[in-house]
Amino acid sequence: MIKYNPQHDLLLEEFKNINWHEERQQLKTSPLNKFPFLPLDIKIPTADRKIIFEQLKEQNKKMNEIPLFGPDYQPGANKIWFYGMRTGTDWIKDYKEWYKISSDTDIQDIDHLDRIMSKYDYEWKIECPELKTFIDSFPKKKLYSVEGGNYQPDGKAYVHHDREKFNRVSGDLLYGRIYIPIEWEDSASLYWYGFGKVPIESGRVYVLNTRQIHGSHNQSTEHRYAVHFAINPKTNKFEDLLKSSKQNFLKTF
Ligand SMILES: [Fe+2]
Repeated sequence: MIKYNPQHDLLLEEFKNINWHEERQQLKTSPLNKFPFLPLDIKIPTADRKIIFEQLKEQNKKMNEIPLFGPDYQPGANKIWFYGMRTGTDWIKDYKEWYKISSDTDIQDIDHLDRIMSKYDYEWKIECPELKTFIDSFPKKKLYSVEGGNYQPDGKAYVHHDREKFNRVSGDLLYGRIYIPIEWEDSASLYWYGFGKVPIESGRVYVLNTRQIHGSHNQSTEHRYAVHFAINPKTNKFEDLLKSSKQNFLKTF
């Protein structure tokens, strides 16, 4: 957890204003693992996205009371755990277990993580059929965790790279966090090293290379909701999706 410090605010403001023109141009010839993020050619149908949004709002109220999930972990933010491992105890302990594995375990690569994670049974902690249907259809070998997040108006994530070793290891292949902004104003912004402000489209699926430095600041007057999930992506279908998405993303430069 990052404790509040005025210098973090200053750093975030400076980071937001960097012009990454040259770095963006270099992406045209860069391998995928140098990309800060990638919008995928896949999107949640709007009607389903609206239902997921309502569920996130509903669950968010409940999570406010739990320090691990409520605003204590980042200023103005909450998280929600939809899907993950079951250890036979309660779900908060389950989450701590998942967090411990993804943060502290010295994971070598995705196969190593898969060996650790295949020891567990999994369950939907919070039923959300529209989200389940979409994630079931997403190309992957194995699903490990589905989380929701909410940044309140003026909520921030200071400039950082993700602590989870899973994200850092898998980030080598841009297999990092799979991220879906559910209901966003344009000013609910993410900023990424080497690119700047990420162009966000609600319902679009993004791969975020959380190994690279990033930060966020919700400057809108609305809460900003997102879902992200952790997978073993080693399938041909996912590789193909990355390749075609990269081509389409580069056309927008
Ligand atoms: Fe992060």
